[in-house]
Amino acid sequence: MNKTAVFPGSFDPFTVGHEALVRRALPLFDRIIIAVGENAEKNNLFSIEMRLRMISKVFDGEERVEVTRFSGLTVEFCRRHNAGYILRGLRTAADFEYERAMGHMNWKMAPEIDTVFLLTSTEHTPVNSTIVRDIIKNGGDASMFVPSSINLSDYLGR
Ligand code: PNS
Repeated sequence: MNKTAVFPGSFDPFTVGHEALVRRALPLFDRIIIAVGENAEKNNLFSIEMRLRMISKVFDGEERVEVTRFSGLTVEFCRRHNAGYILRGLRTAADFEYERAMGHMNWKMAPEIDTVFLLTSTEHTPVNSTIVRDIIKNGGDASMFVPSSINLSDYLGR
């Protein structure tokens, strides 16, 4: 049976933590779809198109990773793509409460889809897209927090 996981998120921007998580999850699944949520509008810095381009660059040549956008419910997206798993990362106890609620509610809506949580690598625990965004907005150098294949200046025009 083909095991497909959907890794949903806003990825504004995609971080080293996200990249490491996908690479660690690859041995567990046949295919991982990184799904960039269009309706998770949270004061976005990078457009959906930019985020899709950035993430595609990171996994260029990795045939088992697809990158796409989605709107609507994550579980409906999973059903449309025959994905039996939702992949999420857990950094801290604070993440856990939010993830638990989302995981339980997704499971109530779609009991055939399980959420698989991976603990983030210890070195990536503090890396958080909201803070990375804030560093960028304030002119800081956030290059160490995003995958090495992403050159932020290509997207920021500076
Ligand atoms: O990176 P984020 O912001 O933590 O990702 C949140 C995301 C996109 C996974 C979540 O907002 C989501 O699943 N949105 C799609 C709508 C949905 O299914 N909502 C119900 C989840 S219980």
